[in-house]
Amino acid sequence: MEILRSIDEMKTYSKKLHVDGRKIGFVPTMGYLHEGHLSLVKRSHQENDATVVSIFVNPIQFGKGEDLACYPRDEKRDLKMIEPFVSAVFVPDASEMYPEGFVTFVEVGELTNSLCGRFRPGHFRGVATVVLKLLNIVNPDMAYFGKKDYQQFRVIERMVRDLNLSVEIIPCEIIREQSGLAMSSRNVYLSDKENGDAAVIHKALLDGKNDVLNGEKYSSKVTNHIESLLRTAESLKKIDYVSVVNPYTLQDVDTIEDNVVILIAAYFGNARLIDNIEVDKPAHE
Ligand code: PAJ
Repeated sequence: MEILRSIDEMKTYSKKLHVDGRKIGFVPTMGYLHEGHLSLVKRSHQENDATVVSIFVNPIQFGKGEDLACYPRDEKRDLKMIEPFVSAVFVPDASEMYPEGFVTFVEVGELTNSLCGRFRPGHFRGVATVVLKLLNIVNPDMAYFGKKDYQQFRVIERMVRDLNLSVEIIPCEIIREQSGLAMSSRNVYLSDKENGDAAVIHKALLDGKNDVLNGEKYSSKVTNHIESLLRTAESLKKIDYVSVVNPYTLQDVDTIEDNVVILIAAYFGNARLIDNIEVDKPAHE
């Protein structure tokens, strides 16, 4: 596995793979890798001739007062975990990614105004900008994103379509702890008690999904039910949102007639956790 730390090295490496006719799969990450990341890496390994992983804690997607300074890092462990599946890992420097005078940003419009976009202004502008840069540098055929960050996946998918990028975006299923808690690098911020309590997020999503499958048409009934379940957890600090949305527009749905996604963002202790569940309406309805 090659470890490439400069943009030029990465571009040269990728050009060579393309000249050799090899298909490149790409998994962008911020490191502190877990089984969720690894599932993307393994899938890319299966579906491509070479896999590139990037590890870069992207400063421009963190807001003021967010966890940029204390975001967990362990490069050595990360490299060991992915080594069997990866041809190259790209670990750029923030000073090379954002040199002095950097002023160009990608805005993905309406899709970034709802859900997390409302609570983290500028976040998706930072995500879209870094992902576009990474796609230009790595030049992959396929790029893998987890549905754990559902809004992020839809934003990137839209950017790729709107800007005519030649990469296929592959959404991947959410990987969970045994308790049902979605794996996240940020789970290290949780105490044991908070971690145990946070399992309620997935349970509440499953209950909400059941409500819909059992015929509940009103989103407000579903979100009220989910919120009441979340509030049974002692370590719940704050709910940012519980929303039932259209999977493509990410706009709130009042009366559920079609497929929806139910999403949650909530604080357990100091950790802001997100999770979601897709609900496909039964075909006979
Ligand atoms: P990061 O949080 O490190 O996540 C990297 C990728 O792993 C994302 O596509 C994310 O959705 C996926 N992922 C994380 N936890 C997962 C889980 N439990 N199951 C399945 N997939 C999971 O997302 C980012 O980094 C950044 O915003 C990035 C796209 C790298 C841009 O900076």
